Amino acid sequence: TGTALPHKVRDLGLAEQGRHQIRLAEHEMPGLMALRERFADSQPLAGARIAGSLHMTVQTAVLIETLVALGAQVRWASCNIFSTQDEAAAAVVVGPTGTPEDPQGVPVFAWKGETLEEYWWCTTQIMLWPDHAGAGPNMILDDGGDATLLVHKGREWEQLGAVPSPQEGDPEEWKVILETVRADLAAHPTRWTDVAAGLRGVTEETTTGVHRLYQLHEAGQLLFPAINVNDSVTKSKFDNVYGVRHSLVDGINRATDVLIGGKVAVVCGFGDVGKGCAEALRGQGARVIVTEIDPICALQATMQGYQVARLEDVVDQADFVVTATGCKDVVTADHMRRLKDKAVVGNIGHFDNEIDMAGLARIPGVQRTEIKPQVHEWTLPADSVDGVDRPERSIIVLSEGRLLNLGNATGHPSFVMSTSFANQVLAQIELFTRPDDYPLGVHTLPKELDEEVARLHLEAVGADLTELSKEQAAYLGVDVAGPYKPDHYRY
Ligand code: NAI
Repeated sequence: TGTALPHKVRDLGLAEQGRHQIRLAEHEMPGLMALRERFADSQPLAGARIAGSLHMTVQTAVLIETLVALGAQVRWASCNIFSTQDEAAAAVVVGPTGTPEDPQGVPVFAWKGETLEEYWWCTTQIMLWPDHAGAGPNMILDDGGDATLLVHKGREWEQLGAVPSPQEGDPEEWKVILETVRADLAAHPTRWTDVAAGLRGVTEETTTGVHRLYQLHEAGQLLFPAINVNDSVTKSKFDNVYGVRHSLVDGINRATDVLIGGKVAVVCGFGDVGKGCAEALRGQGARVIVTEIDPICALQATMQGYQVARLEDVVDQADFVVTATGCKDVVTADHMRRLKDKAVVGNIGHFDNEIDMAGLARIPGVQRTEIKPQVHEWTLPADSVDGVDRPERSIIVLSEGRLLNLGNATGHPSFVMSTSFANQVLAQIELFTRPDDYPLGVHTLPKELDEEVARLHLEAVGADLTELSKEQAAYLGVDVAGPYKPDHYRY
């Protein structure tokens, strides 16, 4: 930790492959390409130094190059150890005009299959700006809140003058975060204090990261303003639902190639992501069972024709169990001991604490076999569970409990990421150029911008929008140009 490198990716030789994929993705990302055109002259992000922590995929490459096209300087890391597409990372470093020998693009610190130590090292690297001695980024673009967490915790521990010692029972990753900051503290005693002071704000991509931001703000600990990108309608009601509808099955198929039709699939959580999962699995012909803690979402699931049950009551029927809750300890070791032989278990929520992997590893006599990277067979010895004798059997765990659509496949397709990332770009512009409108707190984008993002994508799918007449608009009490719904409308 401590030295800024120009980049660290798997292999710059992959850049050409990555560039071809980026070129095709651009065709599918009309929102981002329209923003490039609109802001080409005004360069609203000139002067922005953006530290990005978001899955380093082909789609993210188009986002990064859009930020650059609008004037920003960017450094990037992935927000998950398994989610990088190495060819996309290489292409971003090389840039559209560079070569592997003479890279001209953006410093990226990401490769598929990082260790936790490497992951937090990469996250630190995006905060080091060699061209601005002493200065860090002035913006964060975050997904899941890890970059934001590092700045907040780093600063807190600097103010204390020491990094706390890990406690018995702390998750492995927490120990790595403590160690990452500790290793750096003596050499750079005010690094995170300085970085925090230089930040205008963060734009956050996902549900889990947004929860963290509201919690920080409620505790009075938020250090800079934030825009909640997730709760733009054109983000959470598209990416979380339709993106997952595509990439969940993609991940399961690439990992296992097991037929989904005719099987029983349990989806834990029926929020936006769970709704996409359930629809996709049903679309493949599975019988889907939903678990929920929220009566509204549970009732919604029944109206869609899904059985709603508790996991412990149905786990022994399941061929697939998918977690999509953003909660922890949803699938326990005890649940996994009751699964059928060769049942597939995976998580599509942001963090890896939904499935108790540590508990699985602690089952006496359990054995782990790597089928291929990010696909593991866990063999459980013959034992007795709740008085029922069970023979030796195995279960298949995807991406070690980390989000399987990015670990086992390549995440969401471009078109839906264009809606998410158009919101990200607009949020970066808002926060960077109009700081007075966004005081300390967590904000959502104005509905005009949300509607604008949708508008940018209509033509590509051949949709012709009906226009209100003046009289109709007056009758509804809205402006002809929108916004068309009150803020409390739920879509
Ligand atoms: P959400 O809040 O809309 O849905 C989560 C649902 O899980 C809620 O309805 C909640 O009541 C339910 N839930 C919570 N604890 C539960 C438990 N113990 N058992 C059963 N149900 C429970 O959140 P959303 O947007 O659906 O996101 C879910 C997770 O997926 C988050 O971690 C989010 O960051 C992540 N995400 C992942 C994506 C991916 O590509 N893998 C894309 C978008 C979001």
